[in-house]
Amino acid sequence: MNEPTIEDYFHEDRVFPPPASLQAGAVVSDESVYDVAAADPEAFWADAARTTLSWSTDFHTTLEWDLPFAKWFIGGELNVAYNCVDRHVEAGNGDRVAFHWEGEPGDTRTITYTDLLDDVSRFANALRHLGVGRGDRVAIYMPMIPELPVAMLACARIGAVHTVIFGGFSPDSIVDRVNDSEVSCVVTADGGFRRGAPAALKPAVDAALPSCPSVKSVLVVRRTGETVEMTAGRDHWWHELREQVDAECPPEPMGSEDLLFLLYTSGTTAKPKGIMHTTGGYLTQAALTHAWVFDLRPETDVYWCAADAGWITGHSYIVYGPLANGATQVMYEGTPDTPDKDRLWRIVERYGVTQLYTAPTAIRMFMKWGDEFPARCDLSSLRILGSVGEPINPEAWMWYRTHIGGDRCPIMDTWWQTETGAHMITPLPAITALKPGSATRPFPGITAEVVDDHGDPVTEGGGYLTLTGPWPSMLRGIWGDPERYRETYWSTYPGRYFAGDGAKVDADGYLWLLGRVDDVMNVSGHRVSTTEVESALVDHPAVAEAAVVGATDPVTGQAIVGYVILRAGVDGSAELVEEVRQHVATKIGPTARPKAVMVVPDLPKTRSGKIMRRLLRDVAEGRDLGDTTTLADATVVEEIRRRAAADADAPGGGAN
Ligand code: PRX
Repeated sequence: MNEPTIEDYFHEDRVFPPPASLQAGAVVSDESVYDVAAADPEAFWADAARTTLSWSTDFHTTLEWDLPFAKWFIGGELNVAYNCVDRHVEAGNGDRVAFHWEGEPGDTRTITYTDLLDDVSRFANALRHLGVGRGDRVAIYMPMIPELPVAMLACARIGAVHTVIFGGFSPDSIVDRVNDSEVSCVVTADGGFRRGAPAALKPAVDAALPSCPSVKSVLVVRRTGETVEMTAGRDHWWHELREQVDAECPPEPMGSEDLLFLLYTSGTTAKPKGIMHTTGGYLTQAALTHAWVFDLRPETDVYWCAADAGWITGHSYIVYGPLANGATQVMYEGTPDTPDKDRLWRIVERYGVTQLYTAPTAIRMFMKWGDEFPARCDLSSLRILGSVGEPINPEAWMWYRTHIGGDRCPIMDTWWQTETGAHMITPLPAITALKPGSATRPFPGITAEVVDDHGDPVTEGGGYLTLTGPWPSMLRGIWGDPERYRETYWSTYPGRYFAGDGAKVDADGYLWLLGRVDDVMNVSGHRVSTTEVESALVDHPAVAEAAVVGATDPVTGQAIVGYVILRAGVDGSAELVEEVRQHVATKIGPTARPKAVMVVPDLPKTRSGKIMRRLLRDVAEGRDLGDTTTLADATVVEEIRRRAAADADAPGGGAN
């Protein structure tokens, strides 16, 4: 017997029509874009490429599709840095602010497009001076300072390929990535400010490089002023080279399919994959989605993506999309609770931020901290909110809308991946009626389908999210491993890209993401999505955040075990825990009632904020912990384990 596809339990009836106030002057105000794109997706993207970007040579062929290998805009040449910087200066917008940057200690820098051009050109010349040329790989390991986007754009300017390594990663992670892509130059900084103190970065590079034979040079940006060791002949200060190099650096014309960057995704266990993104298609989709999804009006908006540039979100929606569109942005170096939990809201107020893009994990943290922090600030400049990285539970969605969006801003729940390069499933602010927790529908020109175990489309109900055609910003492969590319993404359902996520379609055709299929639980033959049970848990007023896993159970196959973080000021009594369990049963049905619910102070997360359910499963099943190196805070699981053991020893045993 085939296993059933994923159950569809959670029903959400609230609908929010697009605000009338956004319609006048909206970048996209007419539904017909969907039909136009669907009628001829290639023509739609060709038009987007030509109208959104400046090409030094036009392309002659829009798409060559030899599944799973795509080439977009063949014959075209362009330079990404030119598109993101020079052309705005040439158009007379050199005085426009590109970045309002704020350091964690409160220091600020205002960087115009003219300033950016100067910095990027000099940085590019500095890289050239260090021997970096077209096609060479450069690793960037930096805090959130303006030199991070500058370094990325400098690589793009000379045709070098960057691979940004998130500044929170360890020397081992640097070694793996640098060696896999044979990096010749590393760009780093002495450190950055986090939680009120300097956090060093350069020592991690120093620790890694003895194991990285390909690296010839290191370019070091001074940020904290802390003492660092400089290895003679290898290490160079950016501020010194800056004065020695030429201020002009002509942008290198690049082929549309030339590699722009590699970005490693760690997955939960396997060797990190170097996801390959190329030039023309990537920039087209990053820029178009950014303009449409955030309704960008570059003359007046102040857009803020609060992600780290080390993730794909930062690549596409801090660096490439927004800058290609000539946006004015906010960039912030530090943590959201330094010096106080209102830091982000102070920034929104100070710069008059119009669009804020952040992650559900952050939103749930703000919920837990309490409403008073955003209430202290004037957030009336905000027009549009965005969410990315995980399914957003309806309650978190409602909190975001109410407490940040003043009940006025639509929320763009954008589903996409490192591999997709840009938004794939997302509302458009002036035309999509929103349902809390739904990413709504594919972006124009994108085709997605939910399929069952046989790969047949599901018209209503739960299944697996697949993409049915090539898209411009799709990954072009995994660095050095074309077979793994085919195997990982294109072999589960023949002819389809399988994203690894569960999803359901409702009666209106709206898509609801259900989390990674690896996390789906099987309870008495019902496949239950973690997202649905977690949403039901977070729906309880006492619960700020929740994670559930399926732990082996002799009777039901798997039993649902929930871990919850309570809102500030709530006590985790046995009665409350029982009430929370019951709430799930009432909300979505008895099969989904967790067998046990444990109150925990925190949940194990990756450094990008995704919950590591695999580790919770290990705890629930009393196993030794697997690999914890990608955890943001390794002590969290130990604490949960300690509590689980204490619970098991207590009279009555178990959380429930
Ligand atoms: O599971 C989905 C989840 O994040 C995965 C991609 O992770 P990553 O490559 O790190 O990129 C994150 C930023 C794009 C997806 O497979 N995910 C991302 N956005 C959403 C989401 N799940 C539900 N809703 C979203 N909006």
